[in-house]
Amino acid sequence: GIPKYVKIVEVGVRDGLQNEKNMVPTSVKIELIHRLASAGLSVVEATSFVSPKWVPQLADARDVIGSVKNLDTARLPVLVPNLKGFEAAVAAGAKEIAVFASASEAFSKSNINCTIKESLARYRDVTHAAAKLNIPVRGYVSCVIGCPVEGIIPPSKVANVAKELHDMGCCEISLGDTIGIGTPGTVIPMLVAVMSAVPVEKLAVHFHDTYGQSLSNILVSLQMGISTVDSSVAGLGGCPYAKGASGNVATEDVVYMLEGLGIKTNVDLEKLLEAGEFICKHLGRPSGSKAAVAFSRV
Ligand code: HMG
Ligand code: MG
Repeated sequence: GIPKYVKIVEVGVRDGLQNEKNMVPTSVKIELIHRLASAGLSVVEATSFVSPKWVPQLADARDVIGSVKNLDTARLPVLVPNLKGFEAAVAAGAKEIAVFASASEAFSKSNINCTIKESLARYRDVTHAAAKLNIPVRGYVSCVIGCPVEGIIPPSKVANVAKELHDMGCCEISLGDTIGIGTPGTVIPMLVAVMSAVPVEKLAVHFHDTYGQSLSNILVSLQMGISTVDSSVAGLGGCPYAKGASGNVATEDVVYMLEGLGIKTNVDLEKLLEAGEFICKHLGRPSGSKAAVAFSRV
């Protein structure tokens, strides 16, 4: 049945901001992390230790994590693409990490400049090093429904990559519809395939709202037993290596729907709306959350 509690993984500061052309000041990122944590979000993805040539916006990863590492109200995972990033993350004070593989060969190449197989070998080194330090590792699979180059991605491919990540010790596997093309019609068969390879308690869903399908996709995922949902405050985001991908589903919209379903999240919607207002004001654009826009008119 549908879960009584849903853990929201807030990805706005990382997945959201990584695509911003204008540099967001480090102090704004730090304040946003604090605001999201005080709104009750128990997991706030803080930044990525990736090449600053590839993602200039996150070049301040060390300063961001250095400043928030002692925050004890939320877990603050960071993305790492390889051992070099892992070592830098740990040195800066990160206590949790995430690795990111793809179900699409073309996307793997454009996002992390290697094949899926090569990426999994790198991540085996990372999970091995992390296990020695007792650092939990989340594993992402991107392009779980389709890819801009390869088109439709078969569910079996997604299940294989998810299983590899699980087998190497990832404690949670987040399934990303990076370009947001999925509907319940394609999401359900993908989840059926992945659930035959990885226990459902270990799975999270990560939807982008390009075609406006996120909430329906989340609802069917909950009905299939998934209880971890990624979302982004104010619907920030898009991926620099996935042209045309729009923002992640907005956290405000997810919380509004979950409240309506009577599902606990521990998130204070009022404070979350304020965090969204804070970052939208800074970016100088309206919120990507329909709930936020509606509440601001009330
Ligand atoms: P590369 O150019 O193949 O790397 O990039 P390289 O090993 O040849 O090294 C080139 C340079 O990068 C060297 O420096 C390295 O030291 C440096 P140089 O000698 O030229 O001065 N380097 C690094 N610097 C900082 N941190 C590191 C690091 N590693 C090497 N960790 C690499 C390969 C993986 C580094 C690059 O492709 C990269 O950083 N990619 C990350 C791109 C990214 O962050 N994309 C967005 C992720 S979002 C996503 O995947 C989807 C997700 O949101 C889910 C969804 O939406 O569905 C998770
Ligand atoms: Mg994403």
